[in-house]
Amino acid sequence: MYEYHDQYKRARERGDVPAQERWVRQLTWEIARHAVGEEIVVYPLMEKHLGDQGRKLADHDRKEHQDVKQNLYKLESLSPSSAEYHSLIEQTMASLHHHNDDEEIKDLPLLEPAIGEDASKQAALSFKKTKKLVPTRAHPSAPNKPPFETLVGLLEAPIDKVKDWFASFPTEDEMHGAKEELKTRDHDAAAGRAAAGH
Ligand SMILES: [Fe+2]
Repeated sequence: MYEYHDQYKRARERGDVPAQERWVRQLTWEIARHAVGEEIVVYPLMEKHLGDQGRKLADHDRKEHQDVKQNLYKLESLSPSSAEYHSLIEQTMASLHHHNDDEEIKDLPLLEPAIGEDASKQAALSFKKTKKLVPTRAHPSAPNKPPFETLVGLLEAPIDKVKDWFASFPTEDEMHGAKEELKTRDHDAAAGRAAAGH
């Protein structure tokens, strides 16, 4: 998200409003999926494994996410070339810096030893899967569109609904199994690619 924010600022310095809009769209989706991903994957682990302290930290983090989400809602109604829009982005990024640092310095170092290396790796993989929540432009016709067509739709979806949606993807074990299987059956995949003209 910091990289997208930099791109936005550079576009703004050039006075390129359409590019500003494109980078802010990318940035806001990234912020939203990051927040939802943590709410699905990380906070439940903190609550389960860190007792009272975990519940307090998770509540605190969710509250900060809520504030950021409010800012994202507000951004949707502002004009990208307005001063208010820019100051809201800067304000949001400043509080996110603080919030992200907190999570990295306080939360994760507590959580990692409490759950162990394997569970930590699993959680990292699950979190990576939340990239599926962001619309991709790489294959516009591929059936991998997220079920949330707007940013507000994603932010307002009940966390349980998002969790269910994630459960409809293969598990990490299934993905691993498929990769192993592919090693011995790669000719099928190669034939498929050839047939598809790639
Ligand atoms: Fe967060």
